[in-house]
Amino acid sequence: MRTQVGIVGAGPAGLMLSHLLHLRGIESVVIDKRSRENIEKTIKAGILEHGTVELMQQTGLGDRLKREGAEHHGIHLRFNGRNHRIDLSGLTGGKTVTVYAQHEVLIDLIARRLKDDGQLLFDVDDVSVEDLTGTSPAIRFTDADGNNQVLDCDFVAGCDGSRTYTRFLIPEGEVRTDFFHQYPFAWFGILAEAPPSSDELIYSRHERGFALISTRSPTIQRLYFQCDPADSVDNWSDDRIWTELHARVDGDDASISDGRIFQKDILHFRSLVVEPMQYGRLYLAGDAAHTVPPTGAKGMNLAIADVVVLSRALDAFYTSRATAALDAYTDTVLRRVWRAQQFSYWMTSLLHRFPDENDFGLRRQVAELQGVTGTTAGAAYVAENYVGLPLA
Ligand code: PHB
Repeated sequence: MRTQVGIVGAGPAGLMLSHLLHLRGIESVVIDKRSRENIEKTIKAGILEHGTVELMQQTGLGDRLKREGAEHHGIHLRFNGRNHRIDLSGLTGGKTVTVYAQHEVLIDLIARRLKDDGQLLFDVDDVSVEDLTGTSPAIRFTDADGNNQVLDCDFVAGCDGSRTYTRFLIPEGEVRTDFFHQYPFAWFGILAEAPPSSDELIYSRHERGFALISTRSPTIQRLYFQCDPADSVDNWSDDRIWTELHARVDGDDASISDGRIFQKDILHFRSLVVEPMQYGRLYLAGDAAHTVPPTGAKGMNLAIADVVVLSRALDAFYTSRATAALDAYTDTVLRRVWRAQQFSYWMTSLLHRFPDENDFGLRRQVAELQGVTGTTAGAAYVAENYVGLPLA
């Protein structure tokens, strides 16, 4: 088999890259170890930045998003028992975010790639990549029928997420450095059949720990609360979960609506950035190169922003053999990646209870939240970053 760009991983980065390349007349093949069903059903986060929504609309992926996505004009930061609204659209010249789950984006992307005769190979195994430093790398794998395959390509895109194989093709030390930061907590997430607790997301800072009220649809809610990373879902009965959420959120201007919980999971996270994001003919995009804590709602958006830059750089190569944009790929995308890292880290530290925090720290945190929500400059900083920096 031969293609122009071999893409390892059918997540947001890989599928969107394949779609954007197709629109520019560049061929690709996407392979993934997971099944299509697994990819389309795995629950991840759900906030699309303004620019991600625009990109989907401009590239023919906007129909279901427009029908089923929920546009949000603000979010609440909650502390001292009150909501403090951040007017996203008012502070950003009209920009908004849209609640539309990541797996819905993937369902739309897969459907569109298949409609455009895109080659997506699921259930592959034994993936390896060769000759990255030459001009014709190859991806070897076993296909769903158990046949050995060799995919010769001009470029390889490493879009295989946080459990990446491709990241490790960049030699550590001599070429690659990983920058990471651990957090002393995790998130307990639930999906519940319940009416919305709030019209807009609530990020709640509480002395018992952080809680987040999000949504999926008028009948399905997504809620999270900070937990110990060593905790287990088995320790949490439905009653205990609702009691904890009520304790962290309820007050005069907010209250949680209970319902039937049909999924519980514990989300472990950290901050990570890999530098450089390229090596020979390999380009990393999305979680293979960087992961952020979910507090800033940036993960999928960053993956999409990476491949916007990469698809343009590949287009410049195929149009005129220009390599400047490919050479500059890492530097171009890392500016945005580090800004998102900073924002996600900062939102996390602003809202979570750190296990070793003393009373000074707790009062300082509330004062910081007052500064952020009580000044136009502070609120604008949150709003501009939350709706997303402009795509490059
Ligand atoms: C979600 O709905 O899953 C969600 C929303 C906002 C976040 C993280 C997750 O910051």
